[in-house]
Amino acid sequence: MHIDIELTDADLRQSLRADARAGLTAPAKWLPPKWFYDKYGSELFERITELPEYYPTRAERAALTAHASDIAGITGARTLIELGSGSSEKTRLLLDALRRHGSLDRFVPLDVAEAALRDAAAAIERDYPGLPVHAIVGDFTRHLDRIPAGPDRLVAFLGGTIGNLVPSERAVFLATLRRVLGPGNWLLLGTDLVKDRGTLVAAYDDSQGVTAEFNRNVLHVLNRQLGADFDPAAFDHVAHWDTDQEWIEMRLRARHDMRVQVADLDLTVPFTAGEELRTEVSAKFHRSGVAAELAAAGFELAHWWTDPADRFAVSLSRSR
Ligand code: AVJ
Repeated sequence: MHIDIELTDADLRQSLRADARAGLTAPAKWLPPKWFYDKYGSELFERITELPEYYPTRAERAALTAHASDIAGITGARTLIELGSGSSEKTRLLLDALRRHGSLDRFVPLDVAEAALRDAAAAIERDYPGLPVHAIVGDFTRHLDRIPAGPDRLVAFLGGTIGNLVPSERAVFLATLRRVLGPGNWLLLGTDLVKDRGTLVAAYDDSQGVTAEFNRNVLHVLNRQLGADFDPAAFDHVAHWDTDQEWIEMRLRARHDMRVQVADLDLTVPFTAGEELRTEVSAKFHRSGVAAELAAAGFELAHWWTDPADRFAVSLSRSR
């Protein structure tokens, strides 16, 4: 396996420190969602995808299963690049279809989580003999310029992960991707769709408490990586549907007043009872909004496929 490390442990530590300092000293406290995904957090996310309430993974898989051979036929992709690839489980549907179609000659998964990326890339190499895998340890908001050049590229950004970016970040992300791809390449984008509040909130606040544990895991990450002394049990998990922004916000709500020390930052972080720390935004979309954001960045939406219940969309766009 060929693996490029664009993010070393030292870089990751540096950005975690910067994010923690910025987010924990802000008037409205926040942390970016990428820090959920240490080894345990990646495992918890895999468990989330199997929960009865968490429909996005199954809905996206249904849309991909139904249209993978269309995607292969339309794009004729030779290079499949997957951003935020995680376990690359749904990617197999695309790899299978592109192999059947006969065009595929390499797979390029990119993810910040090196351990999960190595496992996923090794599993793909084992199951697709002869397929070159070029893995990139990187951040899709910073390292898009490291994806290999060449014709007939298909970039897959699945899972609804684009919803973790706020609109201004999405605009920058899509414009950067368009610049890196040049004209005539393809973007396959997974977007969760706006639906009733009950379904959305249940997907982010499951009855077994797996999502709550995933949310609190970010505090364990800060304790271990930055010598912080968060008591994760002192925070309640909150999943809030913001009707105006059309996004789910995950938050951690302090159960009582406390002062948290973050030793490696020389920082004391005061919380008042009920104060909330925002840990994730997960935006939900309408077709018109997705098409408009893509168009603004120089992509033309060519196909829009959903699962039978219209919960989740997979769209295929071409760079102009
Ligand atoms: C992997 C980012 C798409 O936003 O639904 C799952 C992460 N957070 N449950 C999402 C997540 C809480 C997930 N993404």
